[in-house]
This record gives sequence, structure tokens and C-alpha cells, in this order.
Amino acid sequence: MRVLGIETSCDETGVAVWDTTRGLVAHRLYSQTDLHLAYGGVVPELASRDHVLKLTPMVRECLAEAGMGMADVDGVAYTAGPGLVGALLVGAGLGAALAYALDVPAIGVHHMEGHLLAPLMEPDAPAPPFVALLVSGGHSMLLAVEAIGRYTLLGETLDDAAGEAFDKTAKLMGLPYPGGPALAALAEQGTPGRHVFARPMTDRPGLDFSFSGLKTQVLLAWQRHRDEPGAAADIARGFEDAITDTLAIKCRRALAATGHRTLVVAGGVGANRRLRALLADAARRDRFRLCFPRPAFCTDNGAMIAHAGALRLAAGLADGIAVHAQPRWDLTSLPPLPTAA
Ligand code: KG4
Ligand code: ZN
Repeated sequence: MRVLGIETSCDETGVAVWDTTRGLVAHRLYSQTDLHLAYGGVVPELASRDHVLKLTPMVRECLAEAGMGMADVDGVAYTAGPGLVGALLVGAGLGAALAYALDVPAIGVHHMEGHLLAPLMEPDAPAPPFVALLVSGGHSMLLAVEAIGRYTLLGETLDDAAGEAFDKTAKLMGLPYPGGPALAALAEQGTPGRHVFARPMTDRPGLDFSFSGLKTQVLLAWQRHRDEPGAAADIARGFEDAITDTLAIKCRRALAATGHRTLVVAGGVGANRRLRALLADAARRDRFRLCFPRPAFCTDNGAMIAHAGALRLAAGLADGIAVHAQPRWDLTSLPPLPTAA
């Protein structure tokens, strides 16, 4: 089954084709970074309008890259939520309309399930049960994955998501949007230990996170030390160490609490090199299996939506002809795959 995947939940337009026997056949990604740069963040109306301009030609290009015509599409998967409603409606509208016109099934994919299952696109894919750390711009969650579609929330952020903390901290240090990757790049030049920030909520039991206090700590350090040579990089490194260390501590706790021996990490912050290195050390020490998608599939992309949608469509799940757009959507409310019930 060849599934066309469409992602337009925020500021990336992604299109891909996932073949349930051959895997990823083609993918295209366009990032709106330059469009939103002057505003220091995503402007929802501009995002929607740009998706309208880019999406249809990208679908054509992606199918051409796959050596396919429209008639070869066996199903359509589009991001139905969570995300910006106007942006979602662009992908959902085109996806549902294409499926109707081609008389193939369509499915509205949960964006975070797309992220969560992205490590399964890689060779030697892990199989449930496992623990998943999902760290993106809007969410930070630890989940127990008993089967595809059967997710139990173990912990989540009480305030800022990990990516949001990166972005807001970068902004207060004067770094350009999108801040997370810029802050991580600056941290690479910094010396560890010069600025030490708290590891929030690690001094008590539990698997929830809280990252909003960290940016206040960084702001105070930044105001006091900003004129010292190397201070920006050292503060960035201190912040990155605090956040990645906290995530690693909670991951180890979640593995101990569930007894699972595999950790899967996904979402934009999963591209962070420090987090990847820290968790790789922990995996060697504690002897658990660690799985990441390649960095390009940690951040938003169409491949993960085509893949997650293909798993559901192949199991016989589909939405009707209605356009499914759901800006707020609880991941644990998804129906499990029939085979996993
Ligand atoms: O998953 P994603 O692309 O979009 C959402 O679903 O939110 O995640 C984007 C988030 C942003 O907050 C971005 O700053 C962060 O992931 N991010 C990073 C890195 N690359 C992306 N944060 C830290 N280090 C990185 N290398
Ligand atoms: Zn995302």
C-alpha cells in the first residue's frame, strides 16, 4: 500500500510517500523559517497562506520523485492535529479532497503519534513495549507504549515544553528564531560547569517536568554576565546541560518504573546532539536499547505522517470523507490498532 503523507501543522510543509512493503519512497520538506524570522516566532495566518502556496506543487513533485501518478496513491494520511487550526486545515482539506477524488481511504494522523513512531521508520526498528520520550516545541511527554496506538502517559511538562524552553531562552539571549538549534549551536562552544542551573523536579519522585523556571535562572545569569567574554556560550552550555540532564534522569526513572528495556526518543529536541550523547552514555551504563530517528526526522516532516498513517490505514482504520482538523487532541485517546487491541 502506497500512502501519501501531508504535514502542515505549524511552519513546515512536508509531503512524503510511504510504501508498506518498501518503506520511504520519496519525501519533500519546506520550512517557513525565513517567512517568520522578522516576527521572532510563527505568525499563524502567514503560515496557513504559505502552506496553500507550497503544498499542491510539493505533492506533484513528491509523486514525481516517487515515480508515481495520482492514480498510484492507495491512501492519504494528513496531520489532523494538534497544531495551528488554519495551518492544519490546509493539509487536511487537500488530503481529504484528494482521497475523495481518488476514491481511496484517508486518515487524520495525530502529529505526536507521527513523531512517536518516527524511530520505527529506521532500519532494525524497535517493537513495543518501550518507553517513549517525546520532546517537541509544544509537548514534552514520557509514555509507556504497550502497542502501536496504546499509549499510557507517565509524565508531562507542567509548563513549558522542552523545545519551547530552548526557544524562549534563546530569545531572551538575543538569538534569532528558531532559537532551539541556534542555542544548541552556541552551547557547543561553551565550557561545561561555568554556569550551573537547576535540574527541575529531579529532587522528588515522579516523571513530570517543569522547564519554565530555567529561563528565569538563565535571564538572571545573562543580565549579570553578558558582557564577559564567552559568557553567552557558557550560559547556553549550562542551560543545555540542565535540560538534557533532567530529561535523561526522567528517562532512566521511566525505564525503571515500567521495567521496559527500550527507550525511543522523538520530536524536535531529539535532534539535540547533547541529548543524544547523554542518553547513549546512559544506555551503555544501564544496558537499555536506545532508538532515535535520524535528526532530520526528529523535527517536523511529512515522512512520519505518511508512515504513521500507513500503519493505521493498513490495519483498516480510516476517517470518513469529513475534513478532520483538531487543534487540541489527547494522544492517549487514540484508538489502538485492531491487531493491538
Ligand atoms: O517537533 P518539532 O519540529 O515541532 C513541534 O512539533 O513542535 O519541534 C520543534 C522544537 C523547537 O522548539 C526547536 O527549537 C526544537 O524542537 N529543536 C531543538 C533542536 N532542533 C530543534 N532544540 C534543541 N536542540 C536542537 N538541535
Ligand atoms: Zn512536531
